Amino acid sequence: MTIAIAPIDPVGRAFFAGVVSGIDLRKPPTAAEVAAVHDGMDEFGVLVFHDQDIDDEQQLAFSRALGPLETATGDIAAPHERRVSMDLNDISNLDKNNKVVARDDRRRLFGLGNQLWHSDSSFKPVPAKYSILSARTIPPTGGNTEFADMRAAYDALDEATRREVHDLVCVHSQIFSRGILGFTDFTEEERAKWAPVRQRLVRRHPRTGRLSLYLSSHAGGIEGWPVPEARAFLRDLTEHATQRRFVYAHVWRPHDLVMWDNRVTMHRARRYDHTAVRDMRRTTLTNEVSSLDQAP
Ligand code: OGA
Ligand code: MN
Repeated sequence: MTIAIAPIDPVGRAFFAGVVSGIDLRKPPTAAEVAAVHDGMDEFGVLVFHDQDIDDEQQLAFSRALGPLETATGDIAAPHERRVSMDLNDISNLDKNNKVVARDDRRRLFGLGNQLWHSDSSFKPVPAKYSILSARTIPPTGGNTEFADMRAAYDALDEATRREVHDLVCVHSQIFSRGILGFTDFTEEERAKWAPVRQRLVRRHPRTGRLSLYLSSHAGGIEGWPVPEARAFLRDLTEHATQRRFVYAHVWRPHDLVMWDNRVTMHRARRYDHTAVRDMRRTTLTNEVSSLDQAP
């Protein structure tokens, strides 16, 4: 079996998703496979692996072979409510007994924030590098995941806007992004844990040298700017960056695994029937440094 990566043709738009064949994720990857995956991530930004019927341990082994992981400190479920270990984010609508949670369950309402365009863990001082999402059970319809290419979006900015965004620093918090949907039900402890952090609006990829717009629904302000002006500008930039020509929509098949680079893409979940089971698990590689250390 030899690993190969072919572009997914989004019909007349720039390629930034690739489909990977010739690798079995039930087995720890070889050094050559690890190198091919990193090269593929640099070239594309989103990689799709079909037919990978793996468990949590296999997902963790594959993820750890790519780099150090972050822990799931951004999840809202209390430790005694968790279904998976702290090394995985539970991207499901299930409780500890694998029952679909109620429509108004706090964990579900918090999780609906994933339907806003974001970059994972941009609310942490050291944000995420790759996210690796494994589909264990998918709903019969809906629940796609969309990705937007923040390198192409940066490249398409006019010269004056590029100059304006070049050195801006945004403040990011999950309290802000959840507030957009009217979710404000946070404890004092959660407010302290998720206090705002600083991230550059333009960052440079350390391997490819390409610049990208580092946007996220978690961004609720720009340092030195009046809040309404900052939010209006961030909205405009997000609208620009998520035009259909920059978007790949992933339609899940059972046992798909999709990996994306949070430094160069945003993503969002799409709605699905809240009574249907959707069980996805995410491992996340840490960026190891702040975006503040990845100046353009
Ligand atoms: C995530 C996420 C989107 C989805 O796992 O980080 O945002 O479609 N998922 O579940
Ligand atoms: Mn996410």
